[in-house]
Amino acid sequence: MIDRTLSIGERATPEIKPSRNGLRLAVLRAFLASVLALLVRFPFALLFLEGVELLPPQWDGGPGLCHLPSCRTGADEVLSARRWHPAMDPVFLSRVQFGLTIAFHYIYPPLSIGLGGMLVIMESLYVKTRNPLYQQLTRFWVRIFALTFALGVASGVVMEFQFGTNWAMYSRFVGDVFGSALAAEGIFAFFLESGFLALLLFGWDKLGPRMHLFSTTMVALGAHFSAIWIVVADSWMQTPAGFHVVEAALRRRAEITDFWAVVFNPSSVVRLAHTLVGAWSAAAFFVLSVSAYYLLKRRHQEFARASMQIALIVALVASLGSLVTGHSSGLVVAQHQPAKLAAMEAHFPAAAPAGMYLFGWVKEDEQRVIGSSIPGMLSLLARGDASAPVTGLSAFPPQDRPPVQPVFQSFHAMVAIGMALIALALLGAIFLWWLGTLHQTRWLLWLFVFAVAGPQLANQLGWFTAEVGRQPWIVYGVMRTTEGLSRAVTAGQVLGSLVLFTLIYLLLFVLFIFLLDQKIRHGPLADDLEVAYRRR
Ligand code: HEM
Repeated sequence: MIDRTLSIGERATPEIKPSRNGLRLAVLRAFLASVLALLVRFPFALLFLEGVELLPPQWDGGPGLCHLPSCRTGADEVLSARRWHPAMDPVFLSRVQFGLTIAFHYIYPPLSIGLGGMLVIMESLYVKTRNPLYQQLTRFWVRIFALTFALGVASGVVMEFQFGTNWAMYSRFVGDVFGSALAAEGIFAFFLESGFLALLLFGWDKLGPRMHLFSTTMVALGAHFSAIWIVVADSWMQTPAGFHVVEAALRRRAEITDFWAVVFNPSSVVRLAHTLVGAWSAAAFFVLSVSAYYLLKRRHQEFARASMQIALIVALVASLGSLVTGHSSGLVVAQHQPAKLAAMEAHFPAAAPAGMYLFGWVKEDEQRVIGSSIPGMLSLLARGDASAPVTGLSAFPPQDRPPVQPVFQSFHAMVAIGMALIALALLGAIFLWWLGTLHQTRWLLWLFVFAVAGPQLANQLGWFTAEVGRQPWIVYGVMRTTEGLSRAVTAGQVLGSLVLFTLIYLLLFVLFIFLLDQKIRHGPLADDLEVAYRRR
């Protein structure tokens, strides 16, 4: 047993020779994990490919939902008949349920995406330098990664269920488009991620360092591919492309005409970039928070300093990246979803130069904002000219406008957090690399401990802006949210499942915090260092 920590740069040259039996076992475990993962995910993807036709007709209230323009209003009448209290609107409750479950779910994927990437950096440093400290880092953060991955999978399955139960009409309409993306996610991304995860977790003393690094890289790639397909599917709802609508037997379906136009729809690339840097930011500030905590408590200091150094570089790149990609996202919104852009800045005149608010409160009935703004800034950012007119909310009929106050507030809160994260990362960099006093500056370390909430909040607010800003459309300009609801679902049923889901998700969250707390309290294990010295 080695009882000392090597410093960064000190070289140890262990070579781990893979044991054949152990390797076989690890590969078998990886294979079984992947098959299990696919068995869980594939039926749901299939459900989409088939446009939920596999379900019995009475599942969504039987035949007869008419999506033809002449009978669209029928959907609203049926809905109001199923509303036994003004607040008990099945559409509203289904949206609350989806929002709540996806908000809980989205705590975990950004962490596993970002941590996956950081694991590759940490283990690459180990393979390059053979300094066991880097392996200790990798092994500790792998345990946290595995926890977030498990919670992400457990909380994600509910999403796919809900499409069938609450949003059957929508699922029918988008089945061809969404099914392909979700199936691709299940087959390529999830398979890669969960398959190699077994090698990553159980292969430490069975694989050579390079082979292990390869597994880590595949897991990280899998997590990123997963994000690609989900973001593609979501972006298609925002800026649909590469499809035509088939009207048959009183039912509308979107059918793919150009797969690559679906994948590269106008908003998918920028949204993916912004989502990924948001995920990297979440992981980097999480690692910073734990490392700062160890330094404040004077525990695992060597480990914490090395973790902090890597995380600070990632945090710096990701927080600046959020601003750059966020600006690009804004340009795409301006071009393709002008009503959303108008709501984000509460810009009411049909066509006039627009400023950008630093903060404010929207007085919707008076069509004005009480707050502080930079005149002409929105025009400058969106049109390249401070006096250029920007389309405002009045240019759209009231039934086609998104809710203004929530979109305005969530957008501004996200940007404010983004700016604060940039400032904090820059401050950290100055104190670490210029002044060299970061590890002793307790107030800054405490700031880093609490900053873990920043990217998490910004991620939630970002999705809220994007999805509430898309309203009243479920597929922008093509299908209204009210049309997407399952026909048979009543408000009471949705309320029941909403309460149940809330309880289950709360339980999952408490479990996550409990396990996370335990792992952080234990800290890196002595064994994490020792493996690097094991010769076989
Ligand atoms: C720094 C300034 C920022 C700007 C200017 C900005 C801009 C935007 C815009 C315009 C959207 C809406 C895109 C759409 O509806 O199509 C958006 C969404 C989003 N933002 Fe930000 N953002 C910033 C910071 C952040 C930060 C710090 C995070 C997380 C760490 C974040 C995470 C998200 C997410 C997850 C979405 C939803 C996905 C998407 O639509 O891209 N944003 N952001």
